[in-house]
Amino acid sequence: MRILSGIQPSGVLHLGNYFGMMRPAIELQEKGEAFYFIANYHSMTSLSDPAERRKNTLAVALDFLACGLDPNRTVFFRQSDVPEVTELTWLLGAVTPMGLLERCHSYKDKVAKGVSFNFGLFAYPVLMAADILIYDSNIVPVGRDQKQHVEVTRDIAIKFNEQYGQTFVIPEPQIRDEVAVVPGTDGQKMSKSYGNAIDIFGDEKALRKRIMGITMDSRTPSEPKPDSEKNIAIQLLKLVAPAAARDYEERLRAGGLGYGDLKKALFEHYWSCFAAARGKRSELAANLDYVNKVLADGANKARAKAQEVLHRARKASGLD
Ligand code: ADP
Ligand code: TRP
Repeated sequence: MRILSGIQPSGVLHLGNYFGMMRPAIELQEKGEAFYFIANYHSMTSLSDPAERRKNTLAVALDFLACGLDPNRTVFFRQSDVPEVTELTWLLGAVTPMGLLERCHSYKDKVAKGVSFNFGLFAYPVLMAADILIYDSNIVPVGRDQKQHVEVTRDIAIKFNEQYGQTFVIPEPQIRDEVAVVPGTDGQKMSKSYGNAIDIFGDEKALRKRIMGITMDSRTPSEPKPDSEKNIAIQLLKLVAPAAARDYEERLRAGGLGYGDLKKALFEHYWSCFAAARGKRSELAANLDYVNKVLADGANKARAKAQEVLHRARKASGLD
């Protein structure tokens, strides 16, 4: 079974990325042959600074390895080290109905926010389909916001198979319900672009401030607060320390616990949840030759598979 996922190097990774995508992906590496990559081609649709792309790409590699991605089990690489994927994007684009792309929320949301709009942003799901199909992927672990893109991939694969004969494996998205949408400090979906993110790694003081700034209601400490589904701090505590969260929920229900104390506890649990990973990340950052070798080995393995599938698609469509 092939498991595949990607993450854009478009900024610093946060708890939404970790619980929504990275942790499920890392757990799945035990279950089959996993391919995980850093989607640097995709990042070109929103990030124009080359130095920043380079810096973020390395940071994502360090974050993933520090959080437990095992390069002996998993093929880990940079998307652009497999340029075959851009050729497959063209083959797929030619069987993709415009309407399918026009329905995609992610591009519509960006247009609605007034982001300057380029062809790459519109074609984004076709490149993502190529990423998935070029490795004969069966399972794609992602957060809920990417579900539609995996459905588009399925539609494109079915269309190509109908038109040119059985060529691609039809993939399935895998979304964990309990972490489908991790809330940010303001209660919206946590996102690099909303200024509401709690980063996985970073400066202790700044992150403490972020957590103390989580939006809460105005109830006093003594009031009972039974509605923990609306409580952002409890939702985050459930992720970083599930057992402690049950205890704090009980105390909120009973009354007598204030939000300041709850947020302090959240910070401490969050900080210790990533303590080991933080240590590992510093070691990796001091050993970049090793990190670059992991990515180069990953690229070689991924490329061999991509060439095989691209050849199949070229042959099916009469390009051989
Ligand atoms: P961002 O919205 O911060 O730019 P990306 O779109 O790069 O994040 O997402 C990378 C991965 O992390 C995707 O699989 C996405 O579904 C997941 N993800 C991002 N934010 C969240 C969130 N708040 N909750 C759950 N999963 C998330
Ligand atoms: N679009 C994904 C995101 O923003 C990243 C991505 C690119 C991806 N290609 C992929 C995810 C293929 C899964 C499979 O999060």
